[in-house]
Amino acid sequence: MFTKKTIEDIEVKNKAVLLRVDFNVPLSKDGEVRDDTRIRAALPTINYLTENKAKVIIVSHLGRPKGIFDPAVKLDPVARSLSRLLKRKVIKVDQTVSEKVKEIVSKSSFGDIILLENIRFNPGETKNDPDFAKNLAELADIFVNDAFGTAHRAHASTVGVTKYLPSVAGFCLVKEVINLSRLLENPARPFCVILGGNKVSDKIGVIKRFMEIVDCILLGGGMCFTFLKAKGYNIGKSICQDDYLDEAKKLLKKVENNNVDLYLPEDVVAADSISESASFKVFSVTEIPSDWYGLDIGPKTTELFKKIIKKAQTAFWNGPMGVFELEPFSHGTEGICQALADLKGVTIVGGGDSDAALRKFDLEDKVSFVSTGGGACLRFLEGSELPGLEALDDK
Ligand code: 3PG
Repeated sequence: MFTKKTIEDIEVKNKAVLLRVDFNVPLSKDGEVRDDTRIRAALPTINYLTENKAKVIIVSHLGRPKGIFDPAVKLDPVARSLSRLLKRKVIKVDQTVSEKVKEIVSKSSFGDIILLENIRFNPGETKNDPDFAKNLAELADIFVNDAFGTAHRAHASTVGVTKYLPSVAGFCLVKEVINLSRLLENPARPFCVILGGNKVSDKIGVIKRFMEIVDCILLGGGMCFTFLKAKGYNIGKSICQDDYLDEAKKLLKKVENNNVDLYLPEDVVAADSISESASFKVFSVTEIPSDWYGLDIGPKTTELFKKIIKKAQTAFWNGPMGVFELEPFSHGTEGICQALADLKGVTIVGGGDSDAALRKFDLEDKVSFVSTGGGACLRFLEGSELPGLEALDDK
């Protein structure tokens, strides 16, 4: 159940609405938007507001510019992409908060869309500076948060502004919370979780939480090598977070006492370098050569993981099984994508890399829901509070 007020609970007609979105999107080498998924996710809210004659002042961050101007992460390419998707004009301003911005906002009409410059160019944003939040809030009558991907950050434009304005959720935020909650509230069983990606540190919280609620956990990707090393295997030059070895050992011990099956790869694809032209070979995890890199789960593991996923009624996947961007190391991830696509039950995917993999194999439409959040999705599932969500008005 969604307990916060939404844009449908408030009158937006002839109101100026400060809309926080997460347009932190990947850019191509020539500086254009390479993946517009997060922009498309905000369109229902933007359309609803403009159709209901609100003046929409959009705020987003892009990258981590540390409170100073950085031309590489200006929001101009985002404005072009948004304008193309909406098939209408977007007024892009070059500043975040200033007298000039106030003037542009006050002169614009209801139904107009204004996009402010990258909010993280201002040092007050990530510090959640109250004066900066107040200045931002003064541009509008209502605050709408639709930035699920940034809801785990307590920043001026996600939390600070809620002190000064009626604050409600947009459609993307509501959809995320409702879909991800399906994993936590009485999921159909067996419930299988597949985790990959490079960093164990990002996933520790979610692994601990899932140990209490799922039937099996499949671990692949770069992070599995920290677990394999914790089990005493030689992992060669594979990526490893040595400072998480003790934590990994504790988790493996805990699994023995919990009613959950945790699977690590039995074989991996390893290579003598991380490139498309590398020499590569399948090895058992007991035989990874000292100077080779483990870059994908092996075919035996892929088949085993697919077999387990096939039996699930609910599945959640976050993080690729290998360096899927390079063909020789893409097959483990492709296998997981295919197994999820074939599953009849609830299939939920989180994280930009997993989403990119689904799209690479043309299977994005075959899963139940793809979250726009990376860190936010994991924090939500591990049971941590999302400040950007908590700060909104209760129903
Ligand atoms: C993300 O991409 O996960 C969000 O946009 C948050 O970005 P951040 O980690 O830089 O706060």
